[in-house]
Amino acid sequence: MKNIQLKDDISLSEFSLGCMNLPLHDSDEMERIIGRALEAGITHFDTADLYQFGENEKAVGEALGKFRGDYSFTIGTKAGNEFDAARKEKIGWNPSASHIKESIKQSLSRLGVEAIDLYQLHGGTIEDNKDETIGAFEDLKQEGLIRSYGISSIRPNVIDYYMKHSSIATLMMQFNPIDNRPLEILDGLNSDVGILARGPVMKGLLSDNADKVLENKFADGVLEYSHDELKRTIGALREVHSDLTALSYAFLRHHDAAIVNGVSSLSQLESNIDSYNRMPELSQEDHDRIMSAVRLMKYEAHRA
Ligand SMILES: NC(=O)c1ccc[n+]([C@@H]2O[C@H](COP(=O)([O-])OP(=O)(O)OC[C@H]3O[C@@H](n4cnc5c(N)ncnc54)[C@H](OP(=O)(O)O)[C@@H]3O)[C@@H](O)[C@H]2O)c1
Repeated sequence: MKNIQLKDDISLSEFSLGCMNLPLHDSDEMERIIGRALEAGITHFDTADLYQFGENEKAVGEALGKFRGDYSFTIGTKAGNEFDAARKEKIGWNPSASHIKESIKQSLSRLGVEAIDLYQLHGGTIEDNKDETIGAFEDLKQEGLIRSYGISSIRPNVIDYYMKHSSIATLMMQFNPIDNRPLEILDGLNSDVGILARGPVMKGLLSDNADKVLENKFADGVLEYSHDELKRTIGALREVHSDLTALSYAFLRHHDAAIVNGVSSLSQLESNIDSYNRMPELSQEDHDRIMSAVRLMKYEAHRA
């Protein structure tokens, strides 16, 4: 497993486990998935306070806790959403310093850790008081409650602000050959900011199960692609490489992006680890073939 060195002395495995869709209520399967991930060299686990209204952090913290003596790993979580855990209801977006500083106490307790390795703002708008949010992250770093911070955003104007006015270590975006909107952002990024590519298998569309996933999850298409165009695109990508997951991972490595892959079962994780280990080295010609198979996408909103 390749590792990616970030600022603040954080090192992440190139392949992180996205924990949003894990089977939280099956603790045996949770333990098998987390154990297998660690055994494969995955050392970073991505969650958020909002996922299942705190339940995700709790279950991930518990499962990881069983392996703490045998492996070292990092945890990334996210804040910025206010929610009512008892009612399982989202209240709204709140990136204020007071909310972030209250949220971290809950996250630390649910995860069972003393510090968060990577604390990310879970979205954000250009109207936010961004300096206040940045100040809160910097304070938490000073206090030793977080080791580093980042943002998860697909808004060019928000990303641009954080590039210029904060010391974020990471930027998380949905990124894969089909949703290639991050490409236009990459050139403007500070060189010390690591890209965390969520959605690398596009909910399974870039996997061996593409045909089924296309019918079940993308019957109405996605982004600017109609269902039929997606079908043709999948066919064209298969001509470049028959393992679509490995192809997506290679595309991301070509762009120096780390992979944050979610799974809901051990078998999906096994299949994705196999694809990771089979990842081809992508020549510029292969990359050009990928780009001629897909639409070149661009973020249309939140630019000004
Ligand atoms: N705004 C944000 O910050 C944000 C938003 C979304 C996600 N995330 C993070 O990023 C992680 C990954 O994102 P994501 O879950 O949207 O995208 P993803 O990793 O591309 O998709 C994960 C889903 O794809 C399916 N899948 C995975 N491997 C498969 C395989 N080998 N064969 C068939 N299907 C497969 C599963 O769907 P089924 O469960 O339906 O089978 C799985 O739940 C999340 O876990 C979360 O940690 C962050």
